[in-house]
Amino acid sequence: MNYKEIYQKSLHQPEAFWAEQAKAIDWYNTPSVILSEDENGYPLWFKDGELNICYLALDKHIQDGYGEQIAIIYDSPVTQNIKKYTFNEVKSEVARLAGGLISLGLKKGDTAVIYMPMIPQAVFGMLACARIGVTHSVVFGGFAPHELAIRIDDCKPRAIITASSGIEIDRLIAYKPLVDEAIALANHKPKKVIVFNRKLGARVPFKKYDVDYDALVYGSEEVPCVPVNATHPLYVLYTSGTTGKPKGIVRDTGGYAVVLKYSMQYIYGIKENEVFWAASDVGWVVGHSYIVYAPLINRNTTVIFEGKPIRTPDASTFWRVIEQHKVNVMFTAPTAIRAIKKEDPNGEFIKQYDLSSLKTQFLAGERCDLATLEWYLEHIPVPAIDHWWQTESGWPMVANMMGIEKPIIKPGSVGKAVCGYDIKIFNDKGEELSQNEEGYVVIKLPLPPGTLIDLWKDTPRFKAGYLNKFPGYYFSGDGGYKDEEDFIFITGRVDDVINVAGHRLSTAEMEEIVASHYSVAECAVIGINDELKGQIPLALVVNKTGDEIEHFQLEQEIVKLVRQQIGAVASLRNVVIVQRLPKTRSGKILRKLMRTIADGENVQIPSTIDDEDIVEEIIAVLKKYEIGVYNKK
Ligand code: COA
Ligand code: AMP
Repeated sequence: MNYKEIYQKSLHQPEAFWAEQAKAIDWYNTPSVILSEDENGYPLWFKDGELNICYLALDKHIQDGYGEQIAIIYDSPVTQNIKKYTFNEVKSEVARLAGGLISLGLKKGDTAVIYMPMIPQAVFGMLACARIGVTHSVVFGGFAPHELAIRIDDCKPRAIITASSGIEIDRLIAYKPLVDEAIALANHKPKKVIVFNRKLGARVPFKKYDVDYDALVYGSEEVPCVPVNATHPLYVLYTSGTTGKPKGIVRDTGGYAVVLKYSMQYIYGIKENEVFWAASDVGWVVGHSYIVYAPLINRNTTVIFEGKPIRTPDASTFWRVIEQHKVNVMFTAPTAIRAIKKEDPNGEFIKQYDLSSLKTQFLAGERCDLATLEWYLEHIPVPAIDHWWQTESGWPMVANMMGIEKPIIKPGSVGKAVCGYDIKIFNDKGEELSQNEEGYVVIKLPLPPGTLIDLWKDTPRFKAGYLNKFPGYYFSGDGGYKDEEDFIFITGRVDDVINVAGHRLSTAEMEEIVASHYSVAECAVIGINDELKGQIPLALVVNKTGDEIEHFQLEQEIVKLVRQQIGAVASLRNVVIVQRLPKTRSGKILRKLMRTIADGENVQIPSTIDDEDIVEEIIAVLKKYEIGVYNKK
């Protein structure tokens, strides 16, 4: 069957389609109910199935005779270290760590937070939790203690697994003091903090709740996998929403395992035993799905890369990793390619490496601009496949399905709907738009397996954020359109979420922090275009009357505040002082208007604006500070 036929089958006979795919994984109890509903009427997949995802990722391959295959390659240019682990070695470490967690009182139904740099122990921690039915919540290491504390209070972990330190290009980041600070800030107090000491020289203050990771692993016996229900929450992953409080995306176990296996074969087109490299971080959904679970379930070798595309040590790193580990399929964010292109515009480094193992390059996480795509295709002779998905979906929603058909790359498009996703473009009233008309990207329910099943302990917010706007449909938060051949184009978020270097952040959250500065009367934070990072935040601030704070001081203090509260990853560097913000007559701040002014796009002044003169005032300020299109560099 071709893509069109398979896709149609997935929409018209979803139960038969996914029941068939479910056979590709091992179950303790094969599901007999394929599609049902939870108490809120939300679709659930494989309700009565029982499985363990750690078993699928490790034990199964050992039982099948592949224990000596390399499961993980840890490549760390920042510590100049490369280490390979077989499935036998990973299973042994994970099973003992899981035994250690049990000895500390963790059990099925508990939660554990993992706050780690990109090291194998982060993956071991995730798999150990999964092995015993503990729901993990990995928090990206670039988030500050305040963000970690918010997540601790929300998911109430019994334990935190962390490391002594991480390395950011040329500086050591001591993680342990950050965890201690977060625990001090949080109302919920985890019982234990398991610390992997990397012995890189970071300060590792000792607290009563500390447990040494190595001692725990070596002092524990291996424990078997605990069967869990298909709907058991494998993890909670927090992502930015449109308020200051992140959303805890809940992922099931059964549906997720099925689609991850499916996606490796039919989207990524990779065979068992080949090498898959997702150059992301375990703190993001890409890391969960395509550094950890999917490649291991599919018996691929996965690469854990602790470095950056540039400056670790230079723009050749990606090509070196591909050659050295014979990477077959790679995944990265366009921002990484932009960074490499900037340092090595003529692709001189690329010529020095043998990239013949590479079959396909996947790109996602943010919009891929045409210049980046063209540069890639000019220098590397493999298909560069842009594809679209979100933390919420957990796996691609739109792509070229490489395992089904030869790709058709239409520059600017993210491809066609993936099997299981009935994607439509709606206007504000919930009416389907015609071809090439831009609107809201929505997906008809039921979503396929593996997608979010709820927000952690917050079903009302789940419904309000995703389901209520267009009844019967999931609202993605993105805008876009479909062309006459059903290729989908994503035009960007329609809410306050921005994408900075592939990192999803909330401008609403930044606004709350900026507003807390003592001299700020009111403010707006918007995402503006950036050549390297895709988008960066810009804060526009109205000072309190009579406050004579210098611009330089205000900017420094606000930048520091955001770094302290969210983390450096927020990349807020520009703060401008304006006399007033553009608003509608009813007082709503016109953020989109400011965005189009800063990006130099076709500025359309809404008829509801309070005072039109303000547009010229904002332009004058942006020119003065050389921001956005007015940046002369
Ligand atoms: N721990 C601590 N700090 C971190 C961090 C972490 N895990 N990750 C990032 N930071 C810090 C950085 O050190 C930097 O701090 P600085 O402002 O003091 O220099 C800041 O957060 C911004 O980091 P980053 O966005 O990585 O920018 P950069 O300028 O260091 O590097 C790129 C630019 C383009 C090379 C880098 O952003 C990149 O590799 N992007 C690809 C992202 C990606 O793959 N995302 C996954 C989505 S699929
Ligand atoms: P995250 O949840 O961090 O994966 O971010 C998801 C958001 O990133 C989506 O809602 C989109 O706005 C954006 N995004 C992801 N992939 C793409 C892509 N290929 N093209 C355009 N935007 C993308």
